Amino acid sequence: MKKKILVTRKLLKSNEERILKLWNAHLNLNDEVYSSKKLIELSEDCDGILSSIVDKIDAEVIKKLPGKVKIISNFAVGFGNIDVNAAKEKNIMVTNTPDVLTDATAEIAMLLILATARRATQGIKRAREKNWKWSADFLIGRQLSDSRLGILGMGRIGRAVAKRARAFGMEIHYHNRKKLNSDLELGAIYHPNVKSLFSVSDILSINCPATDETKNIINSETLKYFPKGAMITNSARGDMIDDDAILQALKDKKIYGVGLDVYKGEPDIHSGYLNHPEVFILPHLGSSTEKTRTDMADLAIDNIEEFFSTQKCKNSVN
Ligand code: GLV
Repeated sequence: MKKKILVTRKLLKSNEERILKLWNAHLNLNDEVYSSKKLIELSEDCDGILSSIVDKIDAEVIKKLPGKVKIISNFAVGFGNIDVNAAKEKNIMVTNTPDVLTDATAEIAMLLILATARRATQGIKRAREKNWKWSADFLIGRQLSDSRLGILGMGRIGRAVAKRARAFGMEIHYHNRKKLNSDLELGAIYHPNVKSLFSVSDILSINCPATDETKNIINSETLKYFPKGAMITNSARGDMIDDDAILQALKDKKIYGVGLDVYKGEPDIHSGYLNHPEVFILPHLGSSTEKTRTDMADLAIDNIEEFFSTQKCKNSVN
């Protein structure tokens, strides 16, 4: 008998075709965002769930999932949307999709860095409005070469950002729970705490996972550590930033610009960001290339296959 799988969001066609060959799958043809109640109902008789970051699978939801569900394969590298401990207690494996989205996400991180430094929000607006003329001091921005990039979270994505930023002539600084070996550091300068990292960051790129420790790590106190006129970009998770505090720092000119791909309470975006001339915003596009989204879904499918055939999975996170 074929296993039954709930796929909570619409995937690219080739991925859905593969799923239909493997399992008796409930696909989300209209790509609606399921409420918790609906997700629980649709999981009836399912052996596994292929979830996405917009599915909030907290302890309450996990408690109510049918006992037959043994794996939640998250279509993402981040898994802050799932209570992995509650899942473990119920003997449900949670898996993620590392590596395959590293390059695409690092590219978006570079886009945020470039766009913030070179004032793309205002540049695009002025060009669209045909409201500009060349002048020597028109929309003067910041140059990346010879500036210091702080990377908060030097995991796979952080290191991929460092590799790209080096090519732009930036000096790389980072903070991680642990100092990396020199073969991974590649000359990047380690800071044992955020105070030390932020104080040398002309630009900060946030690339760490959302945890209790990193929640609101950018707040009114830590913003004081930055050099005046620093820039902050976030391609990881919105949870890391206290939005009111960063908007105040922009107002005070302590912070020069902000680049964001992720937000607290997505798809909402704090209204203070929407029309701010020095804020460059994108709608969570980090992994959004055809290759990466295909590879991510393939890996999420591989994870379920591996689990069904071995009861184990190399990408288990709990
Ligand atoms: C995207 O945000 C991911 O975590 O994969």
